[in-house]
Amino acid sequence: MKELSRRDFLKNAIIGGAVLGLGNIVIHAPMNALASGKFDMGLCKSVRIKCICELPCIDADLNSKTINDAGGGEVNQWTIPWVRENAAGNCTLIDMETLEGIRHKFLLDAGGDGPYMDKCFKREGIDNMLKSGEIEFLFITHEHPDHLWGLEAVLKYNPAIRIFIPDTFYSEGMCFLEGAQYIKPSAVNLIPHRGELLKLSGGQIHKLYEGCAAVDLDVPLPVRARGEALLYFNIKDKGIIYVTGCGHPGVLTLAEFARKNFAGGENLYGIYGGLHISFFGGMDAEKEKLVRGMADYHFKKIACNHCTGVEAVKRMIELEYPIVRGTARYGSWTDLYVGNGDEVVFG
Ligand SMILES: [Fe+2]
Ligand SMILES: [Fe+2]
Repeated sequence: MKELSRRDFLKNAIIGGAVLGLGNIVIHAPMNALASGKFDMGLCKSVRIKCICELPCIDADLNSKTINDAGGGEVNQWTIPWVRENAAGNCTLIDMETLEGIRHKFLLDAGGDGPYMDKCFKREGIDNMLKSGEIEFLFITHEHPDHLWGLEAVLKYNPAIRIFIPDTFYSEGMCFLEGAQYIKPSAVNLIPHRGELLKLSGGQIHKLYEGCAAVDLDVPLPVRARGEALLYFNIKDKGIIYVTGCGHPGVLTLAEFARKNFAGGENLYGIYGGLHISFFGGMDAEKEKLVRGMADYHFKKIACNHCTGVEAVKRMIELEYPIVRGTARYGSWTDLYVGNGDEVVFG
């Protein structure tokens, strides 16, 4: 790799992390471990999370039918006829506060369709926050339609926004970021991304701010996608939380990752986001095992939604897990969990 001049480095440097530049695409340098083998991400004061939207789609049966009719999980998402009217998506506003009282706001995922997301953004004032630069970056967890295909609505208000992605994006996803229209699946982004694109390397820990670390896990995903990134926060006097898009690597894998790798990882405080347990179909013995396994981590606040599955959440409530309830405003399927327009504070 070419040696960077200090000027080049500073051009790409971001607070709390190191970045290596390759034109407009940069690799975010992972953290080094402590002598104990664990990683110290530092501490933050609090994390306020606003669910801009969390619906994987409008109609889950229609979504399953679309995938099954096209050939199942092995198909290429960019070549099958998704029903555009059924698109919704996942997008989360994270507002973290450092111990010094500095706030950092960023978006996790871009939702599933431009016009749907534009409505959500206007409802929650995200349009103005993007325009003003108040939202520092967009963190895309993975290459699934409901997390990526709403990108145009973000770029419409800030085409130069810094974007993080897993480094395992396929060529179709990379083209989409540059501005592309895929006719058959109705995946549209006509606004090229003009800002920095930061790639996270699989299996590595990347510190973004004191008390905030990004992790990308290189896991195979259905419909031609690979790797899912997520965020961990270490909140002073509370413990570690993790924030997911779909949580495809598994709710227990993600908890265990924190326990094994982070200083303070023995104290897990909470979860926000999709846990991908019973979205397709109801509960079975394997899913029951996953839900019961969560008890080992003694979470104090579980704000799961998106692809977690209503049946899985009902089971967690039966088991008296501390599930944060929502309002089912703005189209979310149930008030049993945090949904569109709802907010949860950790800290
Ligand atoms: Fe997903
Ligand atoms: Fe999803």
